[in-house]
Amino acid sequence: MIQPCLGINADGRLTVAGRDAVSLAEKYGTPAYFIDEETVRRNCRIYKSALAKYAPSGSFPLYAGKALCCASIYRIVAEEGLGADVVSPGEIATAVKAGFPMERAYFHGNSKTDADIRYAIEVGVGTFVVDNFDELEALDRIAGELGVRQRILLRLSPGIDPQTHRKIITGSVDSKFGVAIETGQAIKFAQLALAKKNLQLDGLHCHIGSQIFEPDPFVDAAEIMVAFAKECVDTLGWAPQVLNLGGGFAVRYIDDHPHIDIEANVKAVCEAVTSSCAETGLPVPRILLEPGRSIVANAGVTLYTVGSVKHITGYKSYVSVDGGMTDNPRYALYSSPYTIIVANRAAEPADFECTVAGRCCESGDLLAEGIKIQRCERGDILAVCCTGAYNYSMASNYNRIPRPPIIVLSPNGDYVAVERETNSDIVKLDNVR
Ligand code: LLP
Repeated sequence: MIQPCLGINADGRLTVAGRDAVSLAEKYGTPAYFIDEETVRRNCRIYKSALAKYAPSGSFPLYAGKALCCASIYRIVAEEGLGADVVSPGEIATAVKAGFPMERAYFHGNSKTDADIRYAIEVGVGTFVVDNFDELEALDRIAGELGVRQRILLRLSPGIDPQTHRKIITGSVDSKFGVAIETGQAIKFAQLALAKKNLQLDGLHCHIGSQIFEPDPFVDAAEIMVAFAKECVDTLGWAPQVLNLGGGFAVRYIDDHPHIDIEANVKAVCEAVTSSCAETGLPVPRILLEPGRSIVANAGVTLYTVGSVKHITGYKSYVSVDGGMTDNPRYALYSSPYTIIVANRAAEPADFECTVAGRCCESGDLLAEGIKIQRCERGDILAVCCTGAYNYSMASNYNRIPRPPIIVLSPNGDYVAVERETNSDIVKLDNVR
């Protein structure tokens, strides 16, 4: 099985976290996202213990909430002792609602408004990851107005081009994120930040991209960041105490993807930092990592009901479901592959080649093309696997389709973590004159 929380029961049906998927679909309706709490906790612990083992004390992982943002998930990761990467007032408000310890929150984003900055300071966000010169000025001004000395990291772009989808690369020189090291602008950024009286510069940040399988680009980035830290010591007399190397470790979505050893990847990155520091004579900074996908993706499954199966003679077959790009736009956007199982026929051979389509008025509303699943018919339950990351958080109301609920499958029972949207939610902001 592609996810540890999946199985097949004696009735030949798919199970998720030990529950019969068809019964879950009956109980909660479809489409619906299901999240296995134990997988989320296990993933958090892998990062936490690897950093405890290979990085200096005070190092810890931050959960990148953009992967799946709802109060219940923040509650779980807070209990596991992680920090949080937040990127908008909405994500901050969600963390606040969850009672997240906001001093462990790191506020990202390349276009924070004055109102965003003010709100984040007021609710006690511990650290801002300052993306650009304009933000540095605005943050210093607003922190001064509020009488706060705000902790910051500087977002830098290390000039790394990892092998991943071009839309999710973020650390190249010409990226919209961060200040480039290669152009000489980053050192000026650090110099300016050190001179700001309302800001306290703790360290540096980079994030090179997402769904990256190999550790090598992370190791390269770590080495570049340490070399830059050395430049800071030499030219500014300042050594970063924190190095936040972002997120980005890949997740295995299909059998063809390689297995990923997160602990080994974290070890490789920490060793790169440690040995580069030794070579340059720098003290080893605390290391932060910001995994999102690899915390929640393989904890999630989406269940749909099949609405139609259409065979186009001489061409292909479509299986259409009651959701699609509105709850999972990742195939439409990035051609991301998924494993799909007919939950009520999980023990049957997967020999039916088809395209799985969503319900939107858009030909590109697909979840997979040319994949093999069990033969199915209207009313069957389809499970799309590994949908915990960047599904709910990227969902939309296109075609005025309500967003599905999130159900957390906890060892103590299941609960609705986010309610299903209804048509009244859909029309509630409309004014009619
Ligand atoms: N830190 C920063 C600054 C980030 O921008 C991101 C992701 C992360 C951490 C977490 O990266 P992860 O561990 O999840 O790879 N919507 C795309 C992914 C966009 C990632 C954006 N930034 C997708 O569905 O593949």
